[in-house]
Amino acid sequence: MLLEGIRGRYGYDFTHYSRASLKRRIRHARQNIGVESYTALLDRLFHDERSFDSFLRTMSISVTEMFRDPLFYRAIREEIIPVLKTYPFVKIWHAGCATGEEVYSMAIMLHEEGFLDRARIYATDFNQHSLATGQTGVYSAKNIDLWAENYYTAGGTGTFNDYYSDSYGLVKFRDYLRKNVMFSYHNLVSDGVFGEMNLICCRNVMIYFDKTLQSRVLTLLSNSLRHGGFLCLGNKETLNFSAVQSMFDAVSKKQRVYRKVSDINVDTAL
Ligand SMILES: C[S@@+](CC[C@H](N)C(=O)[O-])C[C@H]1O[C@@H](n2cnc3c(N)ncnc32)[C@H](O)[C@@H]1O
Repeated sequence: MLLEGIRGRYGYDFTHYSRASLKRRIRHARQNIGVESYTALLDRLFHDERSFDSFLRTMSISVTEMFRDPLFYRAIREEIIPVLKTYPFVKIWHAGCATGEEVYSMAIMLHEEGFLDRARIYATDFNQHSLATGQTGVYSAKNIDLWAENYYTAGGTGTFNDYYSDSYGLVKFRDYLRKNVMFSYHNLVSDGVFGEMNLICCRNVMIYFDKTLQSRVLTLLSNSLRHGGFLCLGNKETLNFSAVQSMFDAVSKKQRVYRKVSDINVDTAL
């Protein structure tokens, strides 16, 4: 009833999120908003948009970091960028980018490969607060040592602290990294194809979805890729058993990097 109510009132559909994490999140949301029962939660969400905003923030698990899983970034640098460099222009989509650290990681890599000016990067999420952070490129400096370590493990060829300025416990990534980046709202459950991409990263997003929604989103991502385009998933996510599995070759099974080898598109209806 709660999920149907939210879908009817706000258009956000959580009915195909995986049950265990959904229940945990909703319990947190109830505690954060300070109501005793799920009926009271629904009532509050229905009548108070600010409470719904807080609910959405709880539902959106935005844990991320720069060069998260550094060996994945090394694989991109070694296996994918050399192919992309043969194109005059490329389109890259980070779906479920959270606060944008993975977007800046990609921009730094493309910059070091002399390729940033020929790329257009679309960074999307359904959490507007996260997108606003990504747009500013300002982050707490508390994880900066880990990020630097990740950067070098990922094969960074420069000096990590050249990419940001820091003051008062905050770091701000350089403006040129964001020049070709567009942060915008996109809901993977309800919005459509984001067309003709050469590379899509959708990492650590589908782990929160049930099998039906995972399959639908994989189809959406596949339909958004050009023939020969690359799809990158998180290390707990896979194309196996999905409707689009046969349309991809594995570039790196370990790093969950796939290449689209078919140009057939599949229907995305649930
Ligand atoms: C754990 S973060 C992953 C961030 C980043 N991709 C990474 O791997 O570090 C998951 C992100 O998925 C987003 N998300 C969850 N459901 C979504 C949906 N239906 N549409 C778009 N983004 C969604 C959340 O808002 C959150 O920012």
